[in-house]
Amino acid sequence: MFSIGNLTFDSPLVLAPMAGISDLPYRLINRSLGCRFAFTEMISADSLMQKSVNTFRMLTASPHDRPLGVQLMGNNVETLKKALDAVSEDAFDIIDFNSACPAKKVASKGKGAGLLRDPANLQKILKAIVDNSNLPVTVKIRAGWDATSLNAVETGLRAQDAGVKGITIHGRTKMQGYRGSVDYEIIRRVKEALDIPVIASGDALSPDLIRKMFEETGCDAVAVARGALGNPWIFRETEALMKNGTLLSRPDVSEITGIMKKHLALLTGYLGERIGVIHFRKFFKWYTKGMPLKELKLRAFLATTEDEILGLIDEAEKLESVEA
Ligand SMILES: Cc1cc2nc3c(=O)[nH]c(=O)nc-3n(C[C@H](O)[C@H](O)[C@H](O)COP(=O)(O)O)c2cc1C
Repeated sequence: MFSIGNLTFDSPLVLAPMAGISDLPYRLINRSLGCRFAFTEMISADSLMQKSVNTFRMLTASPHDRPLGVQLMGNNVETLKKALDAVSEDAFDIIDFNSACPAKKVASKGKGAGLLRDPANLQKILKAIVDNSNLPVTVKIRAGWDATSLNAVETGLRAQDAGVKGITIHGRTKMQGYRGSVDYEIIRRVKEALDIPVIASGDALSPDLIRKMFEETGCDAVAVARGALGNPWIFRETEALMKNGTLLSRPDVSEITGIMKKHLALLTGYLGERIGVIHFRKFFKWYTKGMPLKELKLRAFLATTEDEILGLIDEAEKLESVEA
C-alpha cells in the first residue's frame, strides 16, 4: 500500500507509461489481471494545443480505468497551463509530468529528459503545474543526462520543493536510453533524500526483479513497463511472490489466447478494425513469446483483418495445446 497526496493505492505496483502502448485497451487488460494504478502514455502539450486527433484520443477515459495518472510532456509554461485546461480533472486522479523521455526529437528540444540539464527550469515548470492544477502532481525523471551528471537527487529535491506529491525515477540516464542495466544505487539515494513517495522504474521485468527493486532501493512502489508487454499476469504473480513467497504457475495457453482475443476486441473497438489490427500485431508477438510459432508470428505481421488475427490465435492455441 502507498499514497500520493490524499490517494491511497492498495498495491505498490504501477503500470508505467509507455508511448504507443499504454492506451485505454492496454490499461484495461492489465487491470483485468491485477494492475490497480496506471499512467497514460506521455501526451505532448504542444500536440494538444494543435488539436491533434490522435493526441486527444490519448485522453480517452473510462470509469473502469481508475485511479489513473495522465502524463504531460512539454517545456513551455503557458502551453502546459492550456493543456491542463484541456485535461478533465474528473477523468484523472493525478497529473504526471515527463522529464524522462530520451527521444531525440523531445530531449534535444529541452523537453522530457532534456529538462534534466536544467533542474531550475524543471522546478519552475513543476511549480506552475502544481499551482494550476487541483489534482496531485507527480514527475517522472531519470538518473541524469549521462554518467557524468547523475543529478537525480537534486532534481528530486527541487521537484519536492515545487510541491510535487510523488516521483518516479527511471534508474538509467538519458544517454543510456533503454539499454544497460538499471542503477539501483541512484534510486536508493533519491528515496533516502526525499520525503515524498518514490516509484522506482527500470528492469521490472519479472516478479523476482521487482522484488529486487524493492529490496535494493527501499522504494514505495515499482512501475512495470516492458515486463507487462504481452504479460499482464506479472501483476498477480508479483503480488503472490511478495505477499506469500508463492511462485504462481504461468498462465496456460487457453488463458493467454483468451486474453489475446479480449485485447484485440478492445483495440479494434477503440481504433477501428484496420488500425486496431495493425496495433495488435506487435502484441501477438509479445503474448506468444517463448512459443515456437515462427510462421504464425510472421503471418500475424501481415494480417489486416480481425478475423485473420482471430484465426491465428486459434491456430496458436491448437499448436501449443498439442505441444503441451
Ligand atoms: C516503448 C516505450 C515507451 C515508453 N514511453 C514512455 C512514456 O511515454 N513516458 C514515460 O515516462 N516513460 C516511458 N517509457 C519508459 C518506461 O515507463 C520505463 O520507465 C522504462 O521502460 C524502464 O522500465 P523497464 O526497464 O522495466 O522497461 C517508455 C518505455 C518504452 C520501452
